[in-house]
Amino acid sequence: MNESKTVVQEPHCNWSKEGPLDVAAIRADFPVLERIVRNGKSLVYLDSAARSLMPIQVIEAMKHFDSNHCANVHRGIHLLSDEATGAYEEARARIASYLGVSDAGEIIFVRNTTEALNLVAYAWGIHNLRSGDEIVLSVMEHHSNLVPWQQIAKMKDLVLKHIPITPSGELDLAEAERLIGQKTKIVSLVHMSNVIGVLNPMDDLSRMARNVGALFVVDGSQSAAHMHIDLSSLDCDFFAFSGYKMLGPTGIGVLWGKRTLLEEMPPFLSGGSMIEEVGLMSSTWAPVPQKFEAGTPNITGAVGLGIAAKYIQRMDRNRTLAHEHNLISYAVERLNELGGIEIYGDLSERASAIAFNIRGIHPHDTASILDSEGVAARAGHHCAQPFHVALGIDSSTRVSFQCYNTRTDIDRLIEAVIIAKEIFGL
Ligand code: ALA
Repeated sequence: MNESKTVVQEPHCNWSKEGPLDVAAIRADFPVLERIVRNGKSLVYLDSAARSLMPIQVIEAMKHFDSNHCANVHRGIHLLSDEATGAYEEARARIASYLGVSDAGEIIFVRNTTEALNLVAYAWGIHNLRSGDEIVLSVMEHHSNLVPWQQIAKMKDLVLKHIPITPSGELDLAEAERLIGQKTKIVSLVHMSNVIGVLNPMDDLSRMARNVGALFVVDGSQSAAHMHIDLSSLDCDFFAFSGYKMLGPTGIGVLWGKRTLLEEMPPFLSGGSMIEEVGLMSSTWAPVPQKFEAGTPNITGAVGLGIAAKYIQRMDRNRTLAHEHNLISYAVERLNELGGIEIYGDLSERASAIAFNIRGIHPHDTASILDSEGVAARAGHHCAQPFHVALGIDSSTRVSFQCYNTRTDIDRLIEAVIIAKEIFGL
């Protein structure tokens, strides 16, 4: 990117890039954290896996873009359209840098992880899979990495197989080795669980897929926000994630794919923007990535996501991950001290989320009481119903973390859990 022509400037941050994360200064970037919510309580936001908050730098970048460069991309020859195209392609380059990808053309903007995985399932799957071919997933998947494959499996008469979990809540690698075989054409797995925060051993799983010549697809929607991702060393074919889990806006996500595969694949959605020439009876396609970006894209969303990626890079993902590990260990320790709490996954290390239940209280009641104490958490199956079945439960309460959370947030969570137990006489 030519810096002299930058349309949307990189975020200015008031905190130091060195030393431990300056969480107090980081929190000042997130206006929502100033809100007073239920019963006059200040907000404790522990629902970042459902949607993370946006820093002012992202909000301002989108406002600046819409106020100054509001035009369509890849179309006009007027100044504003040129600038909008520049900003959109800058965002693509920022995402490429965030993922360690040298070819920004391999970055495809989509709405979210669900759309990204549908793109792979339909555009690659329909044309490359034959009756009897096998797709290996896991019971830990988010619905976005289960349902599209179910649809393709029905359409093409494919066999779905699911890697189970061990009693500690990790993927069972011995079973994975057994399930991934000569008929496997795709292995598609979640990198980091959005429910219990376990990080799956992608190198081992990728090796298993490679040994049988299968494609390896990674659902990075939870990991992309929380750890350093380097796609030059993570041996996969496709990597998908959403902006709204990584300090960015909703309605924008990314599919990264290997150029050779993307070039061979037919489009997923068709219509405006993705064509080279259109006749009345047939058309030809624009090169990658435009081939997969039909219609006017979420330009402002892409701009916001690019700035969110820069903001996270500036914090340094090793530092944010260390901060989260610290918070999560503290939360697990404090929850365990209370007694009567079941935490799912017996993990030595987890990132981004903890799922638990208070014995004797339905998670919806727990989350309602937490809410009345100003603590935002999620209750339910968190778009991972089969995973809950595998854990032997219907639903759970989930608290999830980001760079802006503190030990004080966890102390407030614990106070609210104590109140919930008292209300239920436990
Ligand atoms: N998939 C999101 C979650 O985990 C919405 O809550």
